[in-house]
Amino acid sequence: MDKQFNRRHFLTAGAALAGSLLLPTAFAAGGREKLRLGMIGTGMRGQVLLKELVRRDDVEVAALCDIEPINLGKALAQFEKAGKAKPRTFGEDGDKHAYRRMLDAKALDGVIIATPWEWHAQMAIDAMQAKVPVGCEVVAGITLKDHWDVLDTQLKTGTPYMLLENVCYRRDVMAVLQMVRSGLFGELVHLQGGYQHDLRAVKFNNGDPAKPYGSGIEFGEKGWSEAKWRTQHSVQRNGELYPSHGIGPCAMYTNINRGNRFTRINTFATKARGLHDYIMKQGGADHPSGKVKFSLGDVVTTTLACENGETIILQHDTSLPRPYSLGFRVQGTNGLWMDVNHSIHIEGKSKPHQWEDFQSYQDQFDHPLWRKYAGQAEGAGHGGMDYFVIHAFVEALKARAPMPIDIYDAVTWSAITPLSEQSIAQNFQTLDFPDFTRGQWSKRKPIFAFNDSY
Ligand SMILES: NC(=O)c1ccc[n+]([C@@H]2O[C@H](COP(=O)([O-])OP(=O)(O)OC[C@H]3O[C@@H](n4cnc5c(N)ncnc54)[C@H](O)[C@@H]3O)[C@@H](O)[C@H]2O)c1
Repeated sequence: MDKQFNRRHFLTAGAALAGSLLLPTAFAAGGREKLRLGMIGTGMRGQVLLKELVRRDDVEVAALCDIEPINLGKALAQFEKAGKAKPRTFGEDGDKHAYRRMLDAKALDGVIIATPWEWHAQMAIDAMQAKVPVGCEVVAGITLKDHWDVLDTQLKTGTPYMLLENVCYRRDVMAVLQMVRSGLFGELVHLQGGYQHDLRAVKFNNGDPAKPYGSGIEFGEKGWSEAKWRTQHSVQRNGELYPSHGIGPCAMYTNINRGNRFTRINTFATKARGLHDYIMKQGGADHPSGKVKFSLGDVVTTTLACENGETIILQHDTSLPRPYSLGFRVQGTNGLWMDVNHSIHIEGKSKPHQWEDFQSYQDQFDHPLWRKYAGQAEGAGHGGMDYFVIHAFVEALKARAPMPIDIYDAVTWSAITPLSEQSIAQNFQTLDFPDFTRGQWSKRKPIFAFNDSY
């Protein structure tokens, strides 16, 4: 059987299993030892993920696509430095759909999507239809319809899909997962997380590729990297625009889509002041950016109710001066963990009403994956977690195993954005949360990080 036939055959068979065991059926029985991967989007994020792929012996990066030649050049330089064969490139002609040629032309075992948000759903759908397994950067789509379309394409084609949510692999986040699973916190009651990251210097620059952070107050066509596209979302949209870093770990702790589900959601947003204030402080009173009216509230607070009785609060806070924090809190009948002060309190272990330093718990509950791979993860992006998220995608594909962060996780976490926008637009109304599993949530079992391989 040729490789293309294998891929089609197994994907068709795999489609029947979709929703329960989402096997990366692109491979012949017995799995694969080396994968041929492609990447769409070789910007700031793509280059970090590429570093993880290039240094692996079980991956051949066979094709890259970007419409920005400077970024393609930087990506290619990584291969030169590593002494590895350069991949074929697509998109230098500026064709925004060149990625389709890449998907068609190369017999890829998988593709990483690291483009602006507005491209993720279409690119993932096209890849899945071309039978190329997808590792997609956060988010899964923009509108609610995008999310249903991505989900239904996955179910129809059976092509594996993983959301590359790296915070689920943060070392303390994974240790807390072990604590949750061992019952240290008792029964979980309330959780918090979010994306609290001063992005003002990311959202504006002077368009110089060598100075992507805070070099000016341009955005849109005159900006560079995320200033080129992300800022426009702050102009046009008001909602929880980046939910997965916060909700990913909380959803894993509470087994969302696997015995639990989100039932209701509402979102409140403050006024929008921070971005305009930043432009003014940079001397932008007479600059076109100074005239822009931003829609995104400075602090956007979302509350989710879960079927099993927990609540989860998410905060999106990217337009005001503040140190970075994802603001995690995991609280149960025996105590709680909060990451902002690296503290934990467990009744019967900690002194009454006092915080304990988290470190001894971190050491005791360190996840087997981190114990095994901390050496390899050293130097990888975001304190090592980027090593793990790529490792998980590659190993799950090789092993023909279900994706540890699967299509249901992806669309459920990411759909918080359009739902939050709808809630705000309807005067902070509380909305029903759609059940993307169509009733399967109660039967599905947790799979994330249950072994020490990936
Ligand atoms: N998980 C994380 O920690 C993390 C960190 C940063 C960014 N991200 C995500 O990664 C994604 C990319 O962000 P970034 O910071 O790299 O942005 P970026 O602007 O630096 O890079 C995006 C790249 O996509 C390319 N592109 C745009 N349209 C394209 C098309 N039609 N075909 C091919 N290439 C196209 C651009 O030319 C650019 O090189 C976003 O979804 C972002 O949210 C995730």
